[in-house]
Amino acid sequence: MNEPLIRPMALADIEAVMKVETATYTSPWERHIFFQELSQNFHAHYYVLELEGEVIGYAGMWVVVDDAQITNIAILPGYRGKKYGEQLFRFMVGKAVILGAVHLSLEVRVSNHIAQRMYSKFGLVEGGHSQKLLFRQSGRCDCNVGDIEMKNATYILGIETSCDETAVAIVRNGTEIVANVVASQIESHKRFGGVVPEIASRHHVEQITVVLEDAMKQSELNWEDINAIAVTQGPGLVGALLIGVSAAKALAFAKQKPLVPVHHIAGHIYANRLVQELEFPLLALVVSGGHTELVLMKQHGQFELIGETRDDAAGEAYDKVARMLDMPYPGGPHIDRQAAEGKISIDFPRAWLEPDSFDFSFSGLKSAVINTIHNARQRGDRLEKADIAASFQESVVDVLTAKTRRAAELHQVKQVLVAGGVAANRGLRTALEKAFKPMGIPLLIPPVKLCTDNAAMIAAAGTIAYEQGRRAGLELNADPSLSLQ
Ligand code: KG4
Ligand code: ZN
Repeated sequence: MNEPLIRPMALADIEAVMKVETATYTSPWERHIFFQELSQNFHAHYYVLELEGEVIGYAGMWVVVDDAQITNIAILPGYRGKKYGEQLFRFMVGKAVILGAVHLSLEVRVSNHIAQRMYSKFGLVEGGHSQKLLFRQSGRCDCNVGDIEMKNATYILGIETSCDETAVAIVRNGTEIVANVVASQIESHKRFGGVVPEIASRHHVEQITVVLEDAMKQSELNWEDINAIAVTQGPGLVGALLIGVSAAKALAFAKQKPLVPVHHIAGHIYANRLVQELEFPLLALVVSGGHTELVLMKQHGQFELIGETRDDAAGEAYDKVARMLDMPYPGGPHIDRQAAEGKISIDFPRAWLEPDSFDFSFSGLKSAVINTIHNARQRGDRLEKADIAASFQESVVDVLTAKTRRAAELHQVKQVLVAGGVAANRGLRTALEKAFKPMGIPLLIPPVKLCTDNAAMIAAAGTIAYEQGRRAGLELNADPSLSLQ
């Protein structure tokens, strides 16, 4: 079959166009409207899609100064679902840009989910500026009005392989997830009670291409839509990071895309931007299996580390304590569940450190838990796991909450963000909500899926880095101890 041809609509096409029109709309336009549009309207631009000599679709739009409205876009029934509509739409958007439009809108039937999906792929936002519509067929259909800010759509593909999740995602404009695929290896590491670096690397190698293909498919985008490849450069397990970095470099080279290195923690912080716009200055509490940090941000892409752990990370402490209590890996969620059922009966230590310090330490707490378990076992006492979990969690949450609150006050922040796997902890969420509500400081905690490692967060942080001009060459290397600042 020949390639379809898109050409300007002529008066001689009206008969064929009427066929498409009546087959598409419940209240079709009459002939004379097309006649008027073609012969009298300076602003109108009409095109037909011709396949082997037959008109199988058409589209029309008005462009007035920098505003474009697509008035109609229709394909003959037998030819739908073959991307002809998409091709036509793409063409019209291209024309609109050339004619000077920076804003485009159109109406889509509420029931037409296929078209809505296609348009949202192009960045169409439902409901935008309906007052801007210059041309509207009232009563023609039950329609949604969508708008595109054509200048803004930036699609960043993110890759994350720093630990035990192989993840690829695509994010639009740094705020909307278009695709998000995560292949977790937790099952493979479970029997070892923690992540085994060699196993992690091998899984990443096996998974990365599959996950990448899944993400591209999920997004329904083409490679030419992607502006840049963002990848976690570090910190993390060096062998694991290397797989993601190599994949990103190969893609950047093959598809001729800019390569943008991203810090894993910047990713965790930017997971919040997928939920709500950030306001500065803000304070981020990053609590994961590898990190416990308080980060002050005065603007996009600028990170000031004001506190960090001097030994174990919060998640690491959770995992180790869980292991002592014979709970499976990762232990955080198990302790969290048990804690909800137990009593805070043991007064475990809290490492406040120097009075003005925002640093953390969890090794003393960990030792105290070990001692408690040993002593109980030696005495032959019954081990109340739930009580130990509740008391341990209380100690961790107390310190995290108090230090975060003091830092937020000191720096007069407009938002407090929580990021990383431990942000899923219910005890921590509740304590932080209780602390910040009376202070009137908005608390942002992403949904659990975005708290644990994923690539959408890398693409979100990568978007800012991309917009700020950060680029890496093909000599980019994984850096297991990359600094955030
Ligand atoms: O951010 P993440 O997925 O990976 C790292 O970058 O480390 O965090 C994983 C950590 C694990 O230590 C896990 O036990 C902990 O987050 N975690 C939790 C909870 N869910 C996950 N810790 C406490 N309570 C939870 N509900
Ligand atoms: Zn992480």
